[in-house]
Amino acid sequence: MSWLLTGGAGYIGSHVLRAMVDEGLQVVVLDDLSSGLESRVPNHVPLITGSVLDGELLRATLRNHGVTGVVHLGAKKSVPVSVEQPLHYYRENVVGVLTLLEAMVAEGVSNLVFSSSAAVYGTSDAAQVAEDSPTLPDSPYGRTKLMCEWMIRDAAAAFGLSIMSLRYFNVVGCGDTDLAEVGGTNLFPLVFRALSEGRQPVVFGDDYPTRDGSCVRDYIHVEDLASAHVAAVRRVTDARVDETVNVGCGVGHTVLEVLDAIGATTGLDTTPVIAPRRAGDPASMVAATGLSEEILGWRARHGLTAMVESAWRGAQASRPDSSPVPALGGSSAS
Ligand code: WQD
Repeated sequence: MSWLLTGGAGYIGSHVLRAMVDEGLQVVVLDDLSSGLESRVPNHVPLITGSVLDGELLRATLRNHGVTGVVHLGAKKSVPVSVEQPLHYYRENVVGVLTLLEAMVAEGVSNLVFSSSAAVYGTSDAAQVAEDSPTLPDSPYGRTKLMCEWMIRDAAAAFGLSIMSLRYFNVVGCGDTDLAEVGGTNLFPLVFRALSEGRQPVVFGDDYPTRDGSCVRDYIHVEDLASAHVAAVRRVTDARVDETVNVGCGVGHTVLEVLDAIGATTGLDTTPVIAPRRAGDPASMVAATGLSEEILGWRARHGLTAMVESAWRGAQASRPDSSPVPALGGSSAS
């Protein structure tokens, strides 16, 4: 009994892999290494280099490794890139899941945990977004994730699959620094990059209807996200289910609060430049976590300080040189 983990060489995937291996699960990784790093996959874990779009490779991998379940993370996840290259995103994310489902059905593999996203909700005025909230994604990326959820549910109904979709909120931080995100385009890595280059971080809008005018997001430590996947693997194995849950902390932090936390952690001046709003940014996106706690018996354990400290450690470890980070116009921090 083994699990195929697609995208297991990625930033999030490698944390999920470590959690699954630590749980004693047998795992084989499929990754096209388009953004993943081979070094993140331990030598004792088989790594199949290839794409989920390769149906024959998928079927052979499922068959040859005695796979009974799949954790599918191998996909594209940049909102702005999905706007510029929607067809690439539909092919990679939607045709990828279609190909995976066809291979699973052909090989009699019936358990699936799917990496979905809070992006399926689009813009919401709710203080906390629950799984039965309207799903009106406002980016091609979000639309690919929602279409995948639909395909998976239809396949589960038709072929008796046991499935769970996990709607990730804003994933940050790192476990061991060798798994740190490299070259990310979300808030944390962009702020760290600005600071490491002696630039002020940029805040996209401070005129939102929030407590300090900047956007509110539900940041979740990647190790908490990884443990949610292990709980989901157990869930789809122990019973035939068709469930979709949020994976977040249920707590919102504003962008300015994140900058304050980064300043407190790094000792650097994080005074931002305020720029105009960024198109497509909802004012607030915070998870309702009751269903994930009830169904998975799981809850996030790391707070914002731990997320920032681990993310900073990871950013420092993955800097091309070990030179100290220059403070804004002043001395450097260690
Ligand atoms: C967070 C907030 C920005 C950078 C992402 C992606 C996707 C999905 C959810 C998985 C926003 C502000 C950012 C900066 C800023 N994850 N910001 N200055 O857009 O909430 O969603 O996570 O599916 O990865 O959709 O994340 O980190 O880009 O932005 O002010 O330099 O930080 O405006 O309010 P986002 P983000």
